[in-house]
Amino acid sequence: MNANLERVLINETDLKKRIKEMAWEISKDYEGEELLVIGLLKGAVYFLTELTQAITVPTQIDFIKASSYGSGTVSSGKLNIQFDTSRNIAGKNVLVVDDVIDTGITLSEIKKLFDNRNAKSIKIAAMLDKKERRLVKVLPDYHGFVIPDEFVVGFGLDYDEDYRNLPYIGVLKREIYEK
Ligand code: IMP
Ligand code: MG
Repeated sequence: MNANLERVLINETDLKKRIKEMAWEISKDYEGEELLVIGLLKGAVYFLTELTQAITVPTQIDFIKASSYGSGTVSSGKLNIQFDTSRNIAGKNVLVVDDVIDTGITLSEIKKLFDNRNAKSIKIAAMLDKKERRLVKVLPDYHGFVIPDEFVVGFGLDYDEDYRNLPYIGVLKREIYEK
């Protein structure tokens, strides 16, 4: 385990197993349809690659960089689009994927944005769900794990750009982000 972690919250085996289950559920729900999976950079990258490899319906991927966060741990509450998807999403079945749904601000804004661009359908898949932190009403259509209100890193999740490449989810020691 990384020395700056207090503990491992979800190990690699459990995480990958659960993501495969999510992919099977998604494949079943979209049977006979085509899917456009859009990942929120950079946090969703590890989850998106793991998930889409196990999806069995015809699937394309794209990315958008938009967040309601700066470099710290507290939401600024405002969506900021740094760069956009590469193709037109009109008429597509869009599945927005993100690492964690926290206040829900980012994903609810993204949903509105894609709705304005006339996606055929829009659903949300979040690897982690911090249910008790929700500030706006948005429910992920698919979620991996409901987690407590703790700051976690790994499998795409960062603290100031570090720890994204850890193959598991861990709770960061308080002394690391409170110093
Ligand atoms: P929100 O749902 O709009 O508040 O923001 C969700 C985003 O905040 C996620 O995509 C992450 O980038 C970031 N975030 C929220 N909680 C954590 C955490 O525990 N660790 C790392 N990033 C987090
Ligand atoms: Mg993110």
